[in-house]
Amino acid sequence: MDMQAELISSEDRVVTENDHAQISQAVRILNAGGTVAFPTETVYGLGADATNIAAVRKIYQIKQRPENHPLILHIADAAYLQNWVQDVPEAAWKLAEKYWPGPLTLILKRNQRVSDVVTGGQNTVGIRVPSHSMALSLLREMGRDKALAAPSANRFGRISPTTAAHVQKDLGATVDMILDGGACIIGLESTIVSFVGEHPKVLRPGGIPLTELESALGHAISVTGSMNRANTPTIRVSGSLASHYAPTTPLQLCATADLWQQAQNLANQQLKTMVITWSKHQRSFQQHPYLQHTVMPNDAEAYGRQLYAMLHQTDQAGFGYLLVETVPDDSSWQAVQDRLQRASHQPS
Ligand code: TXA
Ligand code: MG
Repeated sequence: MDMQAELISSEDRVVTENDHAQISQAVRILNAGGTVAFPTETVYGLGADATNIAAVRKIYQIKQRPENHPLILHIADAAYLQNWVQDVPEAAWKLAEKYWPGPLTLILKRNQRVSDVVTGGQNTVGIRVPSHSMALSLLREMGRDKALAAPSANRFGRISPTTAAHVQKDLGATVDMILDGGACIIGLESTIVSFVGEHPKVLRPGGIPLTELESALGHAISVTGSMNRANTPTIRVSGSLASHYAPTTPLQLCATADLWQQAQNLANQQLKTMVITWSKHQRSFQQHPYLQHTVMPNDAEAYGRQLYAMLHQTDQAGFGYLLVETVPDDSSWQAVQDRLQRASHQPS
């Protein structure tokens, strides 16, 4: 499959005059209580003015997302953090200074300006400064007293969008405007670090490797959630909310040693199967009318950048099954591993 065409990187993107016109229009829509999908370096977000409760409610409707799932606030600069939160621990400042703008979300105690609708009723809020030039221009133009409440711009439980076309396909006319800023250069959601308890905790691995966070903080940090450190093949029961980030095509993770045997089994059941590998073990691959093969990069960052686009494409191509080679059990692969685990389904 040709992933490259869809993945023209937005890394060195400059905001053009045309972008400026688009951004001004987006600001008008947001100030009038509308919704705008916008690019960030991680994934596309579905934004609304965080201070407008009716506008924020639209996000939940569009995404069909349960109301107790909190949204992340996006701000233009770390200096505005105190408009939204109280008690910023020194360690949180340290991470903000080091990684903002960038793929890091901090969970902190909210102040009274942050509505229950944004936080799902919790007394904490997730907040980040994105680094994508269009996102930053948009936030700056909205002004220092504003923030964009924005989850990923996909329907609840679906794969996050990493291009404007993905957003268009999933949300279409339900959103007032889609800003096109190219393909996201990270391609996986931000790393979420909570500073609410006694010790900082990683709630979601993402764009920043754990080892980097630990060296920035000067101590080890725990990861909560569904990480399977043993990196064993996992099949999740569909419908158990594990289907978060899931493609429609059933996806199974499979250890390298069993991969081609399992591919043959599926093909023999006449399931049109896409086999996704990254290592050099594809030599034993036999031509078979029911099997296709995509080789992903063997570098975690590049793999992460392409993962969601690959899932979007295979979903569209109408495969009966996705068989994915497990990835290395190494801290640099943690975010990719986490998303693959969540995307895997019970075969049925
Ligand atoms: O990279 C990203 O973070 C993207 C871009 C658009 O910024 N946003 C994103 O948002 O992934 P969303 O809503 O798809 O995922 C946010 C995650 C959810 O799992 C939510 O439960 C968690 O952050 N979250 C938000 N606020 C929280 C809070 N106060 N406490 C704990 N978890 C929170
Ligand atoms: Mg999401």
